Amino acid sequence: MADNNRIYIFDTTLRDGEQSPGVSLNSDEKLEIARQLARLGVDVIEAGFPIASPGDFAAVKKIADNVKGPVIAGLCRANYKDIDRAWEALKGAESPRIHTFIATSDIHLKYKLNKTREQVLEQAVEAVRYAKKYCSDVEFSAEDASRSDLDYLALVVEKVIEAGATVVNLPDTVGYAVPDEFGLFIKSICERVPNIDKAIISVHCHNDLGLAVANSMAGIMNGARQVECTINGIGERAGNAALEEIVMNLYTRKSFYQKETRINYREIYRTSRLVSTLTGMPVQPNKAIVGQNAFSHESGIHQDGVLKERSTYEIMSPELVGIKSSSLVLGKHSGRHAFRERLKELGYNLTEEELEKAFIKFKDIADKKKEINDDDLEALVNEQVRAI
Ligand code: KIV
Ligand code: ZN
Repeated sequence: MADNNRIYIFDTTLRDGEQSPGVSLNSDEKLEIARQLARLGVDVIEAGFPIASPGDFAAVKKIADNVKGPVIAGLCRANYKDIDRAWEALKGAESPRIHTFIATSDIHLKYKLNKTREQVLEQAVEAVRYAKKYCSDVEFSAEDASRSDLDYLALVVEKVIEAGATVVNLPDTVGYAVPDEFGLFIKSICERVPNIDKAIISVHCHNDLGLAVANSMAGIMNGARQVECTINGIGERAGNAALEEIVMNLYTRKSFYQKETRINYREIYRTSRLVSTLTGMPVQPNKAIVGQNAFSHESGIHQDGVLKERSTYEIMSPELVGIKSSSLVLGKHSGRHAFRERLKELGYNLTEEELEKAFIKFKDIADKKKEINDDDLEALVNEQVRAI
């Protein structure tokens, strides 16, 4: 695949992800996650926001000094002090990136920054120029881009690219966009900005309406080549686009998207577990790709199908994302086929008559209990079928 079909994965688990209410990681935990992200094969690790606290500074520095492979980015507002602090933390990295941002929407200008459009444009350009003195790789983010005036935003994008920004990120900061609209928004910016080819366009979508991944995919289809995302979709408020969902969309529907990443899919599950354990944020059971139920089949019809041929009800294999195998959960919807297979796995080779008796008892129990585990099955066979 040609290089412009490559999608760069920018992981912000350690920065936006850590902004999840209640989450606070120490620098050793951050380093452990960063090392795992490097094994996962992400292109960029946003390690933190160095000016936010001494702890954040120390964590970014530790990661910059120790993690090789991915680009290491540090976030900073568009002012000299923030940029100096970010560079101080990042300068030991093999491939550092300064990521500077300022809001461009009128709502943010009026209520948060109390600045005019002209002042913000000037500040954005000056921040990129200043960051460029330290580092060749500079990303600029137009916070609240999706609610900004399109002509004004296009002008900001053009001018920051002229000032040397190598990546321009257009976030849906408050998760307000919907996919068709967001796709068109990215396309319009790409069409309006004359020097757009000199930078990589990036998307960063929040999940307030549950559309972060869909919006990111729409962005990709319309010219974005970097996607900002987090493991398990953690992040500010309802979170960010989930990395595992984006990369598995691109992989599973390759012929549709015609794009590729350099992710080591087999590290996905391990990374998800590590982030969940260290942040203390559980993964919902029905979460796509990494949830406990993502590869579990309960209904008899589905179980029978999967036992005959997995592709009947599985669009990707659990092994690909590092999960040992799919599971057939025995419950009241399960059929004889799955029941017999599970008993065989437990070492029981029942006669047809025994199996029939056991199956009737199993259905009785399943009506009272949501899930039948191996202990229940052993008790059922030993005490109720073989003892009779
Ligand atoms: O959501 C957002 O706009 C951000 C930026 C700082 C990139 O997190
Ligand atoms: Zn964000």
